[in-house]
Amino acid sequence: MTTKIIMDTDPGIDDAAALTMAINDPELDLKLITTVAGNVTVDKTTANALKIVNFFGKNDQIPVAGGAVAPLIKPFEDAARIHGESGMPGYDFGDDFGQPLAKTAVEALRDAIMAEDEVTLVPTGSYTNIALLFSQYPEVKSHIKQIVAMGGSISGGNMTSAAEFNVFTDPDAAKIMYNAGVPIVMVGLDVTLKALLTPASQEKLLEMGEAGKMLHDLVTHYNDGDDQDGHPMHDVNTIFYLLHPEAFTTKEMWIDVVTDGPAIGATVGDVRGAYHDGKVNAKVCVDIDAAAFNKWFLEEVAAMNK
Ligand code: BDR
Ligand code: CA
Repeated sequence: MTTKIIMDTDPGIDDAAALTMAINDPELDLKLITTVAGNVTVDKTTANALKIVNFFGKNDQIPVAGGAVAPLIKPFEDAARIHGESGMPGYDFGDDFGQPLAKTAVEALRDAIMAEDEVTLVPTGSYTNIALLFSQYPEVKSHIKQIVAMGGSISGGNMTSAAEFNVFTDPDAAKIMYNAGVPIVMVGLDVTLKALLTPASQEKLLEMGEAGKMLHDLVTHYNDGDDQDGHPMHDVNTIFYLLHPEAFTTKEMWIDVVTDGPAIGATVGDVRGAYHDGKVNAKVCVDIDAAAFNKWFLEEVAAMNK
């Protein structure tokens, strides 16, 4: 049985790698890709998602819909210093990579989710589209099995001392998502900064056909991490979790999102269950087998017919 998923994404180098895994793994059935402003503007994240889909020849099977151009309230700030001006530098995907759907991400999400009894949402950018979806079409919630979201941290930020980038980008949307009553797995910096793609793994990608070369070339243009210890492939951890939850240690707790002040964008985990009286709204990934992540990453790419 395959797992039906929808990815909401802002490619972005690690998003591109997550899409690559989701498109190709036979245990996943990727129904739709929606895009959001984040690492770069939404016109670029939409083009980048289409480039990956087209690279694997899946334009007829996996639709892409463009989404929110800006966060709900906070002004938009990109991460081009990390992902380059295009968001996916270092590899030439050509000029002809197809078109997005005529409908918006929110409409596409509603239609795709309502068409299924049960689907898993995988957001790897800010959660603006999901907040808009839940506000406009709350009936989708009962069709969502779970949300496996990259973002947040209970151990400090990468954007500010307190905040991780995806939640920092649109904290108001994150608050809506965490309070929606849908099961959430938080795949945050607590694990993604541990599972670095090592320099040795990056070298091995070059022996793995055009897909390996594409990922290698993108990762070597990625300004997150370094060439000594490796690069955090944050968003890829969501796909690894879906396929190998046994490689993660998780803890259930309540996650609150800070929406103003110096900790804006922080995810506060009620680790002691003291503030929310033991109630929980998320399963938080707190540890990961980093060696297993590297091994799996390479096995996935080696198995791609490209
Ligand atoms: C997150 O921020 C983005 O730059 C990455 O694509 C990832 O989704 C990590 O904090
Ligand atoms: Ca991302």
